Amino acid sequence: MAITSDAQPLTAERTGIGLRLPHIAEVVATRPPVGWLEIHPENFLANPHALELLTDLARDYPVSVHTVGISIGSADGIDRDHLMRLRVLVDRLNPVLVSGHLAWSSVGGAYLNDLLPLPYTAETLRVVVAHLAEVQDVLGRAYAIENPSSYVSLATSTMTELEFLHALVHETGCRLLCDVTNVHLSGHNMGYDAYRFIDEFPTEAVAELHLGGFTPEDDEATPGGTLLVDTHAHEVAEPAWQLYAHAVRRFGRHPTIIEWDNDLPALATLIDEAGKADRVREAAIEDRHAHTG
Ligand SMILES: [Fe+2]
Repeated sequence: MAITSDAQPLTAERTGIGLRLPHIAEVVATRPPVGWLEIHPENFLANPHALELLTDLARDYPVSVHTVGISIGSADGIDRDHLMRLRVLVDRLNPVLVSGHLAWSSVGGAYLNDLLPLPYTAETLRVVVAHLAEVQDVLGRAYAIENPSSYVSLATSTMTELEFLHALVHETGCRLLCDVTNVHLSGHNMGYDAYRFIDEFPTEAVAELHLGGFTPEDDEATPGGTLLVDTHAHEVAEPAWQLYAHAVRRFGRHPTIIEWDNDLPALATLIDEAGKADRVREAAIEDRHAHTG
């Protein structure tokens, strides 16, 4: 199944931003020089005015739809009503990418306000493979899976996250959204080498990269006493920029988004962050060429 549509062409040359509701009127009015826009459909499903503005923007910018409400890992199934609402939105916007997290967030029809971790087992793989097929079938397009931010490892896991992602790609041919900040903070929280994780990531499956800010919190249970929390409430931190450069050297140039959801700054700050990502990426691409001749 093709991952892109015939909407505005997606660019890997210029970083995009996560478009949040407080910025939408300014983006409509000023058409800032960002490469593309990523939205959370859940913000627009009950907001017809915002959807009208977004539909207008979709004529000028490639738009990607990044879901937070499709609980692809839920043992009790996908919420079909939500999925059908998503389909209507996707049909209207004709996005260049649709994606969501490798996580679960609903059980018994109740939505939890969190992306919760999955045990990496053959049973979970079977559930996610079946749900991915269902989501792609209903939407009529490919759905890329994002690596989660991790805070705990589940004792029932029989695979590592990387083994699970490789198995998922092998079984479904799906594409992956590599959130570089998630790799950095999960590596810190779980005690693994984030650079090695990038080296062993299924390179051929990478469709998109995410960058966002995180918040260090005191936590006695984490080695070093600090837990890194994926708050999307800050600028991208230096270690995440360095890991991004490493990911670009490893994966090549891929469409990238700056995510910022909490304590939202002025739009200009997001545009600056996107510009920084462009500079870091292009320097890493030059490095890559220098080393491969
Ligand atoms: Fe992300």
